[in-house]
Amino acid sequence: MVMKAEPWGAALDHLLTSGQAAGDGPARLIVPSPSGKLFSQADAERLSRERRLIFACGRYEGIDQRVMDHFAKRLPVEEISIGDFVINGGEAAALVIIESIARLIPGFMGNASSLAEESHHQGSEGGLLEYPVYTKPATWRGLEVPAVLLSGHHAKIVQWRRDQARRRTAERRPDLLHPSQALRSEELTRGALPRTEDEVLRTEDMVVRLATPADAGELLTLQRACWVAEAQRGDALWLLPLTESLDDVRAGLSAWQTWVLRSAGRLVASVRAGQRGHTWQISRLMVAPDLQGRGIGRWLLELAESAAPEEATRIEVFTGAASESNHRMYKRAGYRPTGEPCLRGEADEGVVRLAKHRGPDHH
Ligand SMILES: C[S@@+](CC[C@H](N)C(=O)[O-])C[C@H]1O[C@@H](n2cnc3c(N)ncnc32)[C@H](O)[C@@H]1O
Repeated sequence: MVMKAEPWGAALDHLLTSGQAAGDGPARLIVPSPSGKLFSQADAERLSRERRLIFACGRYEGIDQRVMDHFAKRLPVEEISIGDFVINGGEAAALVIIESIARLIPGFMGNASSLAEESHHQGSEGGLLEYPVYTKPATWRGLEVPAVLLSGHHAKIVQWRRDQARRRTAERRPDLLHPSQALRSEELTRGALPRTEDEVLRTEDMVVRLATPADAGELLTLQRACWVAEAQRGDALWLLPLTESLDDVRAGLSAWQTWVLRSAGRLVASVRAGQRGHTWQISRLMVAPDLQGRGIGRWLLELAESAAPEEATRIEVFTGAASESNHRMYKRAGYRPTGEPCLRGEADEGVVRLAKHRGPDHH
């Protein structure tokens, strides 16, 4: 059940004309939606400077897209999500948005400086979570207010609060501390993998390039971090990616085309590929442990597949025999075990070869 365009069109027409007649100033249309852009304190600050906000709250499956498309020609329209979950209707979301904006309007707070210390405030500490707060009495049910807060030593209190804010943020919201944590595959664009060192595939938060020898150190660190979990699962600490030296990694860079993905400067993922006869072999697909489970590996795999040369009729991937999540990902992508040995030396026991045929329409 999708809400129809006609009544929404009539209602919004009415609001716009009556607002104009009353001299309300320019309006902005906010459409709460779980598929909208994630609402943040920065948005609340930005919207608190608007003259007039109109909220279009959906129910059921949401509102016919043409309503947003039509009104976007007449005023700014934003689809906004209040979080990665689904509620029944846009009203509660609109209330959340309205309340976060209203409290920023000058005169709303008795003491405007209260706003400066809050979680997500982009002050000198740049959007950390707030430190824990306490009030009187100093002891309650056997629990003490931290002694430093009762010391009256202003500089120490400031330092304690800063440390607590950082610790809390690191524990609960590491994504706020390092920008690479914000990386998600749905934000990654479609595009072709770079084929020369000068080419890049870039979005706001990340860059994919062909690896150069300068990347070898970080690649070695990343591959060890990624394969140690695999080795523990398969009781196989001798897996090749774990025993390779820096020189081996450098040598790998000349034997294969290797791509590295950086987010906020950090090397967070990589994949390599090469042509062997009519087969395009993809291997060493890795994503930093703290960023796994977000679809980045799948996205890189698709890019590596699309980089296969015309004459390749088959694509092979290699993965640890014990790695169930990798097997699931490759199965979903159409790969099946070939049963062939890996032929790369004894150190590759515990590694399996999976393959799929390229459809006739691949070009
Ligand atoms: C059941 S939801 C519709 C969900 C929609 N079918 C989807 O999957 O994207 C009904 C309405 O609730 C509101 N809503 C639900 N979750 C929301 C969220 N996370 N943020 C903002 N609005 C939300 C929107 O107004 C939406 O039109």
